[in-house]
Amino acid sequence: MEQHFTDKNLELAELGKKYVFDTYNRFPISLVKGNGMYLFDSNEKQYLDFVAGIAVNCLGHNDNGLNQTLLSQAENLIHCSNLYWNEPMIKLAKTLVELSGLGKAFFCNSGAEAIEAALKLARIKGITTNGAHCTEFISMNKSFHGRTFGAISATGQPKYHEGFYPLLPGVKHINFNQIAELEAAINENTCAVLLEPIQGEGGIVEAQIEYIKQVRELCTKKGITLIFDEIQCGVGRTGKFFAFENYGIKPDIVVLAKGLAGGFPIGAMLANDETAKYFKPGNHASTFGGNPLACHVSNYVVNEVIKLLDNVIEGGVYLKESLNKLASKYDKLILECRGFGYMQGVEFKFPVKNLIANLIEKGILTVSAGDNVLRIVPPLICTKKEIDVFLFELESYLNKYEN
Ligand SMILES: Cc1ncc(COP(=O)(O)O)c(C=O)c1O
Repeated sequence: MEQHFTDKNLELAELGKKYVFDTYNRFPISLVKGNGMYLFDSNEKQYLDFVAGIAVNCLGHNDNGLNQTLLSQAENLIHCSNLYWNEPMIKLAKTLVELSGLGKAFFCNSGAEAIEAALKLARIKGITTNGAHCTEFISMNKSFHGRTFGAISATGQPKYHEGFYPLLPGVKHINFNQIAELEAAINENTCAVLLEPIQGEGGIVEAQIEYIKQVRELCTKKGITLIFDEIQCGVGRTGKFFAFENYGIKPDIVVLAKGLAGGFPIGAMLANDETAKYFKPGNHASTFGGNPLACHVSNYVVNEVIKLLDNVIEGGVYLKESLNKLASKYDKLILECRGFGYMQGVEFKFPVKNLIANLIEKGILTVSAGDNVLRIVPPLICTKKEIDVFLFELESYLNKYEN
């Protein structure tokens, strides 16, 4: 029998290519089950997971509490529409509002949807308070905000725009961490500034503290809505529940998704009351948004994430120190280490495609952020033990690469 009929991974990859849209470059492995920090493919090969479903599976895989929470809610009520209230949604809104110090929550199902909600809310606020001209957004070069039309328009990477013009008009892109550029870009038409406190897809680039403080001040002074996209960097990834807590300020709107229900689809927009009040019944909606199943799971996950914050800080410091040591030892290969907590990146002087493939062979899953950056976003349960396994294999590769 030919090889591809005996290898279940390749067999599934072939079937997938035949029937599934060709929108992703996937590795030819098909994952079957997970446990904690580990995943297993169709050939029962084990992988240490440093991807976490791209910063999603914060509690790792097959978390017993999450599974029980999901099953218990499924036995009661999965969906009931937003014609009625449901308790898990109200409880989740209360928790997120109290944790953030903002005023109200809106629920949806994904990151891009949360971004759309934020853009619409900021625009209706701008138009209502300043007039019909106040419709424009300022967002950052190298940002990533999702794949719907509003979200790609806000995204500051031309590769995501190609083939889809015309985009949403009225979005200006400026360089991140450059306050003078923001000052120059703002005018009477600006309704909102949108940024990721730590850019994810753009290569793990963190905002400087001083910059964020100045952005906050400028937006307050000019009456502009400040939106933080914490879809990737929120929900405990930086060692604080919200990334903005690292900066000592609050945005007017923050959007979350990815890790919020540990892998169950959910998105959320939180806004202060002065901003939230501009959405009235009929302005925005989502059929599945706020469904009791997703919210019940999220209530469980949020509580667990809070317990893991110290682990993220401790593990993050260890990871950062270890990566910095590696960067000085292999300074011919590594340009820079960035990020903190469990959202870190190593920029190499070469494309990381082969490194990632090599790590997969060694049983470690990692993901890139752009061509040359290895993104490190493990589940928040990750400990030094797993970090050491990852570092050992990374260094073995660099050693071979150099010699
Ligand atoms: C910062 C950021 N914003 C928005 C999104 C879009 O989220 P989703 O894929 O759930 O629509 C992503 C996804 O990677 C993201 O990293």
